[in-house]
Amino acid sequence: MYSSLLICHTIFRWLVLVSLLYAIFRAYKGYTSKSPFTKTDNAVRYWTTTIAHIQLTIGMVIYFQSPLIKYFWGNFKEALSDVNVSFFGLVHITLMFTAIMIITIGSALSKRKVADPEKFGTMLVWFTIALIIIFIAIPWPFSPLAARPYIR
Ligand code: HEM
Repeated sequence: MYSSLLICHTIFRWLVLVSLLYAIFRAYKGYTSKSPFTKTDNAVRYWTTTIAHIQLTIGMVIYFQSPLIKYFWGNFKEALSDVNVSFFGLVHITLMFTAIMIITIGSALSKRKVADPEKFGTMLVWFTIALIIIFIAIPWPFSPLAARPYIR
């Protein structure tokens, strides 16, 4: 169960990134060209948020099953000085929670705006901030904090 969820979590990262990038692209295009906010734009807003929520759920399940996290909380003092372990124990979860909260707030605010440019603008700003945080918190193979493969 743990290893299959980890594979899902790794693959889902790409869905999170692609959906966010696409939503940001549409928001930017809609905002600058003053286009109407269509049903498709609304679906993109909704699905981007939902994909982030699914990743959050998978992440939470992994968090309570991971041997790495068990080691982190069981040997807190030593583990804290191990960058690779404390990255997953604290940094990854905190930054990802923050980013997904930002996506959720941005999506809800955009939905409540009446004017179309405001809908696009709100999505553009909040989703871009979330994307930057997610990008920093992903354990890329080139990351100095914790390196993991692009795909398992
Ligand atoms: C947009 C949100 C997230 C993205 C893109 C993301 C991405 C990733 C990636 C790429 C890995 C490496 C997987 C591998 O080893 O192949 C990972 C590991 C992990 N993630 Fe996330 N994650 C997200 C959110 C979360 C959240 C919210 C939690 C916890 C509540 C979480 C918990 C974990 C844990 C515990 C590991 C390490 C598991 C282990 O090695 O035992 N993730 N994440």
